[in-house]
Formats: sequence, C-alpha cells, structure tokens
Amino acid sequence: SLEKSLRPQYLSEYIGQSDLKKELSVYIKAAKQREESLDHVLLYGPPGLGKTTLAMVIANEMEVGIKTTSGPAIEKPGDLVALLNELQPGDILFIDEIHRLPKMVEEMLYSAMEDFYVDIVVGQGPTAHPVHFPLPPFTLIGATTRAGLLSAPFRDRFGIVEHMKYYDTDDLQDIVIRSADIFNTKIYDQGAHEIARRSRGTPRIANRLLKRVRDFAQVSEKDNIDVEIVDKALKMLGVDDRGLDATDIKLLKTMIEYYNGGPVGLATLAANVGEETDTIEEMYEPYLLQIGFIKRTARGRVVTADGYEHLHYPINDLK
Ligand code: ADE
Repeated sequence: SLEKSLRPQYLSEYIGQSDLKKELSVYIKAAKQREESLDHVLLYGPPGLGKTTLAMVIANEMEVGIKTTSGPAIEKPGDLVALLNELQPGDILFIDEIHRLPKMVEEMLYSAMEDFYVDIVVGQGPTAHPVHFPLPPFTLIGATTRAGLLSAPFRDRFGIVEHMKYYDTDDLQDIVIRSADIFNTKIYDQGAHEIARRSRGTPRIANRLLKRVRDFAQVSEKDNIDVEIVDKALKMLGVDDRGLDATDIKLLKTMIEYYNGGPVGLATLAANVGEETDTIEEMYEPYLLQIGFIKRTARGRVVTADGYEHLHYPINDLK
C-alpha cells in the first residue's frame, strides 16, 4: 500500500539520524561478515521519529525476518515463548513500548537475550516441572520513549543503545518531498519547507500534515503546493506558526493563566488539559522543552520568556 511504501526499506533511503545510521551500518556489516545475529538493539526517543521503521530497515539490511509486537500485548510468559518459538535463526523480534512489558516477561527475556534459552514450567500442581527450552539466536529490538523507563538489568542486556533525535527542518523537508513524490503530488521546495518547519521535528507529523495540505490543495484546484496553500491549510488545522497544536497551546495557556507561568506539577497540568500524564510527558513536553518554551525545575514546569512571547502575553508577567 501507499502507506507502507512511505516507509524507507533500506538505510540508504532513510533520511536523517545520520550518526545513528553510520553506527548501525558498521554493526550490521560486522554481524553479517561473521554470520552472526545482530546484538540486541534499544531505540529510545519521542514518538513518531521512526523507531518501528528503523527496526524494519535493520531486518531488511540483515536479510532476516521480523516479528512485531508491543509491551502491553505480551501479557504472560507463555505469550513470549509462543513468539520466540516462531523465530528462525537470526530473526528479529521487535517490541514497541518495551517499558510496558509485565515484569515476569521481562525477567524471562534475560536468559533469552543472554544465552538464547528460557526455562518454562510445564504441567500444573504436583506434575509441574521446569523445562529448559533452547532458542535460535535472535535479535531483540526494543523501542521506548525514554531509556530510563527500563530497569538497569534489562537495559544492560542491549549491546546497542541508540537515541533517536528530533529531525532538523532540512531533513524533514527532504522527507516531505519524498512522500509527496510517492503520493504523486507536486510541491514547491518552499511549500515542503513550510510543512517541515511546522512539524515539530517529527516525520509522522510531517507526513500527516502533507496529506491534509494535499487534500486542501486538491479541493482548491492548486496543482502545485506552495507556501500560501500550506499556511491556509495549517491555519485551518489549528497548527500555528511554530507547529504547535491546540493541546500545546492549551498547556502553555493553562500554565500562564492559572499558575502564573509555573512551577506546576505534571499531574495538575494533565488534569487541567484533559490528557493522560504519560501523553503530556512523552508527546507534548519534550518538544516544548526542545524549543525552549518551557523549562523543568526542581519544583515543576515553568513557561520561559520565549513561551510568553510566542503566545503574546506581556513578558513582564514573568516572575
Ligand atoms: N518517512 C518517515 N520517516 C522517514 C525517514 N526518516 N526517511 C525517509 N522517509 C521517511
């Protein structure tokens, strides 16, 4: 499908994250030369930066199969054994949201990762007995928003730990141009630049905005997307000049209007804007921190002078 082909298949097509690509290509090449499975990989960073895509790229580069699942989907040790049992030698098991694995499953992964076996209990009551269950060599790729969400013993079992960073505007512009090409949509460089600039460093957001702008351009009978049509479409979508959406704005306004710009605690903020604390912490806060509109202090989050200025609140309100 179109949706699927948006994802790059190989490292050479993968735009951005250049340090990470350089490192990974060395580890992949070395593992292939030795005819070994790739060491376990932990990918961490904000949502939408391409952790799942990268896992699939690694599988293609290694020329191995990949099974994809998520932390909350593996409810009990038996679910994990079933997944591991289906792997061919060298295959990849990708676990998204790996910080949400049940503890018993996490602990079963320790021996699986280190020595490629699990000890399972077979039978019930008096006939219950442990069985040593060998596994083929495999690569676990885990994805999480923050490496610190994993226990130290778990984290230490990943030989390759990579931080995914927000993309710069130039890289996002290239991604928008590539996606527009796949959609058979014409876009000026300046139009792509404008979408890129307002996508919060995140390819998933850039591709979503491109689709909406493309709808808008089509209905407006514009055959080539320019800055003007991007600006009109994004205004309609409630995406402001810096790419902030309604929730970002609500967060900042709540902090300024009800809490004098902070400090304010995460739980309080979440209750005020009607979002989960995890959503605020993993999706909204990192970008607002990155562009310097908020700061974290020992007593909570505070809005910065730049944050006040962006929302046109008088700067002298800032304590
Ligand atoms: N689509 C989404 N993310 C991408 C990336 N990093 N490179 C190329 N295409 C993408």
